[in-house]
Amino acid sequence: MKRAILILAILFICMQLIQTEQINPKLDKNLEIKAPQNIQTMFKNACYDCHSNQTNWPYYANIAPFSWIIARHVKQGRKALDFTAWENYDEKEKSKKLKAIYRTVYGSMPLPAYEAFHEEAELSKEEREVIRTWTGVRRF
Ligand code: HEC
Repeated sequence: MKRAILILAILFICMQLIQTEQINPKLDKNLEIKAPQNIQTMFKNACYDCHSNQTNWPYYANIAPFSWIIARHVKQGRKALDFTAWENYDEKEKSKKLKAIYRTVYGSMPLPAYEAFHEEAELSKEEREVIRTWTGVRRF
């Protein structure tokens, strides 16, 4: 038993050697999405940690294995949708992203694993509807 704990402790320490990067590229306000204040606030509270270059890195983002998970979420999240690089998308891409927002904000976003640690990111059903209406995507 003692030995198992020792091995786990060593393993945990070794895991810390695998570092991840926590980079927030510079914010260019001109590229940021322009939405009404209430929508913008919801995006900032619920989406920006993974979908912007304004990530709020929590202290546990320094501790493996959480650091690995968080770094992956942010990397993939920024790649899929970046609210702070919105104006870099062309019209076709924007329309595709708006549709994706319409679809995901119904339930799958923000990621449930994230919501578990971020109460402030929870969106009510009504708030989700407000965002969906704002996207301008028609119900089909
Ligand atoms: C904890 C991190 C995290 C948060 C917070 C988060 N997302 Fe995501 N989101 C991701 C990741 C990771 C992906 C990429 C998934 C993939 O590539 O399979 C993604 C993908 C997406 C996509 C693209 C889906 C597609 O099929 O093209 C949209 C749209 C999206 N998120 C919207 C949102 C919105 C809106 C919010 C806030 C209400 C939000 N996300 C909050 C991590 C997050």
